Amino acid sequence: QNHTIKGFRASFLDAIADPFYAPEASCIRYFPDGLLVVEQGKVKELGNYTDLQDKYRDLPITHYPDRLIVSGFIDTHIHFPQTEMIASYGEQLLEWLSTYTFPTEKKFADRNYASKIASTFLDELLRNGTTTALVFTTIFPQSADAFFEEAQRRNLRMIAGKVMMDRHAPDFLTDTAESSYIETKQLIEKWHKCDRLLYAVTPRFAVTSTPEQLSNVSKLLTEFPDVYLHTHLSENVKEVAYVEEVFPESAGYLDVYDQAGLVGEKSVFAHGVQLTDQEFARLSEAKAAIAFCPTSNMFLGSGLFKIEKAKSQETPVKVGLGTDVGAGTSFSMLKTACAAYQVAQLRSQKLSAFQALFLATLGGAKALCLEDKLGNFEIGKEADFVVLNLRSTPIMALRNKPIDLEHPPTLAEISDQLFATLIMGDDRAIAATYIMGELAHQK
Ligand code: GUN
Ligand code: ZN
Repeated sequence: QNHTIKGFRASFLDAIADPFYAPEASCIRYFPDGLLVVEQGKVKELGNYTDLQDKYRDLPITHYPDRLIVSGFIDTHIHFPQTEMIASYGEQLLEWLSTYTFPTEKKFADRNYASKIASTFLDELLRNGTTTALVFTTIFPQSADAFFEEAQRRNLRMIAGKVMMDRHAPDFLTDTAESSYIETKQLIEKWHKCDRLLYAVTPRFAVTSTPEQLSNVSKLLTEFPDVYLHTHLSENVKEVAYVEEVFPESAGYLDVYDQAGLVGEKSVFAHGVQLTDQEFARLSEAKAAIAFCPTSNMFLGSGLFKIEKAKSQETPVKVGLGTDVGAGTSFSMLKTACAAYQVAQLRSQKLSAFQALFLATLGGAKALCLEDKLGNFEIGKEADFVVLNLRSTPIMALRNKPIDLEHPPTLAEISDQLFATLIMGDDRAIAATYIMGELAHQK
């Protein structure tokens, strides 16, 4: 089935460069009446339907009139075991972890339970148009196995890893420097580059790892140079103070990871709300990435991410969007983009619709070093994409006029419609989700 060549006709929008650093018109491609040709699950061609229709005369075409197709959304930070504890009341980070998170994660020692939640979680990602994510599991290796198996069954490009925690957590949720090293190594050998899956070495955060455990993380990154490092960084003021107390010889939070050798091109740090200018400069120099998680940062009262620092000319840092469920309040990358816009507003910054689209697609791919495979419809990339309904509720149908191909929307008009969809949209706007050119979700 996957050997067949097929086409999709609709409006198309994708980001081919970073609109934080170049004029938007040079960063965005827009085909009001486009044809996407997919062969063996990969993009063969994207162009205007009228230009391509003769070349592909016998092509079976799925037509989505009045729909906008964009590249699949990339969630650069999320916790699958926290699915069931989303919207837990009243606490900030450290108390939220001990009150709600750790007791929930304990349940994932049960492999069957982990599989059940992994399945629900992946279905929910697809319902929201998220086709790739960087995912925390728990300290139990069987919870990582369960996640990878469910992702493999759905042919998804997912990155995940077993959590490593050897102190400052309940006994029922701790490993040791030694056991975490051995179990992580086994999981890397089993899952990294197995089908579309990739591995991220995942120490939870500086607070919950001894220097010995961090040194074993570094050892793993040296032994397996193409795996990821995924952790939390500078989220909450009390957390930053705690890290400085636990690591008195470090020059700051990022320096704890830096001294252990964990800050590199394949490092993804969630949050970074409390980062200093020097830390932004260091992340820029190391080509490390930040997962900006606005719904989580507001829900836990962590603060407002300095998007203008991360996307500055002087110290540019790779940035992706993360939902951070269960501290994040939605699986929807549309709702996450809306929250990012609000955070930018509270910092007197503007986040345009195309900038938000970039962060949710190509920017996320770049943050995960996957821009050769994902993020837009360039030839040869994997055909993971989302069919958007810009008129999925009565008010959105009023706000966004139907696409009339006799008078197709201009780039400015489609930007305006996309903006309204980012601000008002949710899973109802996701008409369909395709994985490697195959239908994976339909509303
Ligand atoms: N820092 C350490 N663990 C966590 C977690 O599970 N969620 C969030 N938001 N921050 C963390
Ligand atoms: Zn998190």
